Amino acid sequence: MEKTPDELVDFWNRRASTFPRYNETAGCYADRVLAAVEAHGLSFAGKTVLDVGAGSGQFTLKIAKKAKRVVALDVSDQMLAISQADAINLGLANVEYVVKPINEYRPAQRFDLTFASMCPALRDDDSRRWLLESAQEAAIYLGFIDYVAPGPMPRLMERYQVERKLFNSGPDMEKWLKDNGHGFAGYPLEGTWTIIYDRQEALHWCHTMLNDYGVGDPDPAFLDQCLADFWDPAARDGAGAYVFDTPYFVDLIVWERKNP
Ligand SMILES: C[S@@+](CC[C@H](N)C(=O)[O-])C[C@H]1O[C@@H](n2cnc3c(N)ncnc32)[C@H](O)[C@@H]1O
Repeated sequence: MEKTPDELVDFWNRRASTFPRYNETAGCYADRVLAAVEAHGLSFAGKTVLDVGAGSGQFTLKIAKKAKRVVALDVSDQMLAISQADAINLGLANVEYVVKPINEYRPAQRFDLTFASMCPALRDDDSRRWLLESAQEAAIYLGFIDYVAPGPMPRLMERYQVERKLFNSGPDMEKWLKDNGHGFAGYPLEGTWTIIYDRQEALHWCHTMLNDYGVGDPDPAFLDQCLADFWDPAARDGAGAYVFDTPYFVDLIVWERKNP
């Protein structure tokens, strides 16, 4: 069942504190994706960029370091607040934060580039057309080809009999582009995300994910059992933490306007 607008905001706000944010780890996922965009032949330097469903800013701020101006659009004020705090720390003043659902944001002018990483709102004709229509030069889209549910999730999902959902499908976007006569380039990216949580973060994350599958109140003892497999006493400089290695298969899709 579709979430109501309030449920949507609430869901993403609850995910904000444990969502990947700007980081400078060499070779991190965001660096890898942006390098692949540049290897395709697109540059962010001096451009105007709309980051759709920008989240807590793992891409926004790296793009802003090169771009002229970035608009970070997201329905979740708490995701954007994290990004904004990091922008202030980095001294970046060229990011405008817009708290709105995508269907309520219609800019007067095109951006040079539109960028959408894993935004679940880009699933229908109107929103996909809008992503392309808002770009003067190119639209960049990231969606899953597949992924392995992180850490304890497979065991928890089996116990509570819930099916994995894939919200952002790269292959669906490719099919839509083909069906609508749009040329594009697709690059499969494969790797492993490593998520590291302390106990409170791990519990919060499990609750949020399960709640999204309609599981309101997971059994605390079972949750502990599932998490125990992922405890690494050496993580976080010996303080100990839960470490979830998550294989991902992502589709990077680049659509370019023929006569910009
Ligand atoms: C999976 S996160 C991706 C965040 C970021 N792009 C990244 O890759 O790190 C999806 C984001 O889309 C946002 N979102 C979901 N539905 C939206 C909508 N209808 N309009 C705007 N943002 C939306 C969520 O709040 C969330 O921040």
